[in-house]
Amino acid sequence: MTKPIESQELMLLLLLITVILGSLTLLFITLQLYGTLQKLINPAQESKPTRSRWERFTDLKPLALEKDLQMAHAYDNIIELNNATPPWFMFLFYGTIGFGIIYGVVYHVAGNGQIMLNEYTQEAAVADKVREEYLTKAANAINENNVLALNDVAALTEGQKVFTQNCAACHGQKGEGGVGPNLTDNYWLHGGGIKNVFHIVSEGVAEKGMISWKKSLNPMQIQKVSSFILTLKGTNPPNAKAPQGTLENTLAVK
Ligand code: HEC
Repeated sequence: MTKPIESQELMLLLLLITVILGSLTLLFITLQLYGTLQKLINPAQESKPTRSRWERFTDLKPLALEKDLQMAHAYDNIIELNNATPPWFMFLFYGTIGFGIIYGVVYHVAGNGQIMLNEYTQEAAVADKVREEYLTKAANAINENNVLALNDVAALTEGQKVFTQNCAACHGQKGEGGVGPNLTDNYWLHGGGIKNVFHIVSEGVAEKGMISWKKSLNPMQIQKVSSFILTLKGTNPPNAKAPQGTLENTLAVK
């Protein structure tokens, strides 16, 4: 994924390229003019042996000139030659400086470069979105026909959180009952087991004061809180409300 370049940044980039190309053209023209001028002023120069482009590029000196290049010192008859750094190397060297400047401006000053941090942030954002979509899809795939009771600690802890926030007001902090029935005994008004509990929590019993939670909780949250409720069975909290409904037939309940 690449960040779309905004038009303002694009303009800046184009301007930069134009300035660079313009400067190079100007430099080229100046050098040409300078060369022509030199020839006009000092025509003798033309008689100098001309060197090929390659020779100028490498700046290799013919062996015949070795004498002129010798430096004043000699150790054990080893003589050092004063060879200039070859132009091709200097060309690369200055090239890296030029590249560095352009890179710095484009990536850091104009700010539209994909530096590592930008790339990371963007990819992380995309991954977050994908993850969120996946979770929503997974959550919405749960319904009262396929729901299973969860028993892992993380899910039950979340279920307990949902319970404390939304349900404890009517069913008691420990599920002992209040306005709503006791959820810790073996008696159920609407049947025990994860599928029945999931159904009641999603749909509610409007006429009896039990809210339908499917609008405010997603199916995964309902699954978690329902699983948590099932773990309350037999906890015998203080001030428990008297059993209501029918005794759960543990064999019949799925
Ligand atoms: C406004 C009070 C209220 C709130 C809040 C409430 N309930 Fe209830 N709940 C009730 C009442 C009242 C009933 C009894 C319905 C009936 O008589 O049919 C009930 C019934 C139930 C039942 C069926 C019990 C049985 O014996 O079959 C379950 C399960 C349940 N609630 C779970 C929850 C969960 C989970 C939450 C929170 C997400 C919750 N309730 C929030 C009032 C509430």
